[in-house]
Amino acid sequence: MFDLIVRHCTLPDGRSHQDIGVSNGRITALHPAIAGKAAQEIDAAGHLVSPPFVDAHFHMDSTLSYGQPRVNQSGTLLEGIALWGELKPHLTQDAIVERALRYGDWAVAKGLLAIRSHVDVCDPRLLAVEALLHVKQQLKPYLDLQLVAFPQDGLLRSPGALAQLTRALDMGVDVVGGIPHFERTMADGAESVRILCELAAERGLRVDMHCDETDDPLSRHIETLASHTHRLGLHGRVAGSHLTSMHSMDNYYVSKLLPLIKESGVAAIANPLINITLQGRHDTYPKRRGMTRVPEMLAAGIDVAFGHDCVMDPWYGLGSADMLEVAHMGLHVAQMTSQAAMRQCFEAVTSTPARILGLEGYGLEVGCHADFVLLQAHDPAEAIRLRATRLAVVRRGQVIAHTPPTVATLKLPQRPSSVAWSLSA
Ligand code: FE2
Repeated sequence: MFDLIVRHCTLPDGRSHQDIGVSNGRITALHPAIAGKAAQEIDAAGHLVSPPFVDAHFHMDSTLSYGQPRVNQSGTLLEGIALWGELKPHLTQDAIVERALRYGDWAVAKGLLAIRSHVDVCDPRLLAVEALLHVKQQLKPYLDLQLVAFPQDGLLRSPGALAQLTRALDMGVDVVGGIPHFERTMADGAESVRILCELAAERGLRVDMHCDETDDPLSRHIETLASHTHRLGLHGRVAGSHLTSMHSMDNYYVSKLLPLIKESGVAAIANPLINITLQGRHDTYPKRRGMTRVPEMLAAGIDVAFGHDCVMDPWYGLGSADMLEVAHMGLHVAQMTSQAAMRQCFEAVTSTPARILGLEGYGLEVGCHADFVLLQAHDPAEAIRLRATRLAVVRRGQVIAHTPPTVATLKLPQRPSSVAWSLSA
C-alpha cells in the first residue's frame, strides 16, 4: 500500500510509461505499471514529471520591493545597489518577512521548492538576516531556503562587514558570500576572495560569490576564486555567480581560465534575465549581452546553473518565480537551441543547482524525497517552450499546489472548439 501513486509519467531523461510510488514522503517504487493501491492516485497521462525547480541565486531580502523608494532609472547594477542602500535604513523585519513569505508562495505554486538566497549583511542591525532565518523556518515544510551571507557593499569597503558576516554565520546562515568586483581596487577584490575562502574552509562551509558582475574584461576574480578553492581543497563546494566579465574577455585568456575553473571544481551560476538587463548599459552598438560563456563552460565539464536573481526589486521590475522563464531566456541568450542543449537548460534550473546547493535526497529515484512537479508538457524542451503549467506540485508525497490545465476555447467558425495549450505537433 502506497500513500501516493502517480501513473503514466514521462521523466526528464526520456523514460516514459513510468509509475511513481510514494510511502512516508519518499519514492519507494519507480517502474511501469506498479501493482497495488494507494490512498491517492494521479494519472499523469504521459505528461512530464520533473524533480522540483531549484533557484541557485536569489535575493529574498529585496524581492517584491520594486519602486521603493523609487524605480531604477539607469537600469544599471550600480544604481540598483545605490537604491537598495537608500531603502536599507527604512527596512523593517516585518516587511522583509511579509515580502519573502509572499514570494515563497509564488515559488511553491511554480514548483520551485529550493532557493539559495543571498542576504545582505552590510547593516549593523542584521535585520534581514534575522528576518530570513525566521522565513527559512516558516517555509521549511514546503521549500528549502539556503542563505548566503552577502556583503553587498563590499567586505573591505564597508566598515564592519567582516564582523557582521561572521556574526551572520554564527546565527545560522549557511554559505559564505562575497562581491570582489565591488571592492575599491582589484587588489582588495582578490584579498576579499582570500579572506572569505579561508573563512569557509575553517568552518567547513560552502562559498557562493557574486563574481565579476561587470562588462570589464579585466575583472578576473574568478581566477582568484578558482585558485583559492584549489589551494584550500574546497572542490565542489564553491560557486561563482554571474561571471559576466567572461562575456567580454579575450578568447586566449578564457582558454587558460576554463581548465582552471574545471580543475578547482568551481560551479558557475548565470542569471540570464538579470545579466541581459543590466549588462551592456554603457555600450552603444553592438551592445554586449553580458551573460557568461555557458555552452563553453558546459563543454569544459563545469557545472552551470541558471538563477532568477531578482524579482521586482531595485535591479529588476519583472519576474514571477518561474524558473522555466529563466531557462527560456538562458536558452536564447546562450543560443542553446539543439535538443541536447535545451535539455541542459532544463537541467540548469533543476538537477544542476540541486548539486550546487548540496540538496539531500533530490531526484527521481527510489529513496529520494517524494518531491516533484507534474507539468503540462511532454519533454523538457516543450516545458521551456510553453513555460508549462504546473498541474501538480508534490512535496514529501503531499500535493501542495495545483493549477488547472491551460486550454484555450476558440470561437472560430469551422475550426476546433478548443485547443490544449501545449499545441503538440
Ligand atoms: Fe545577485
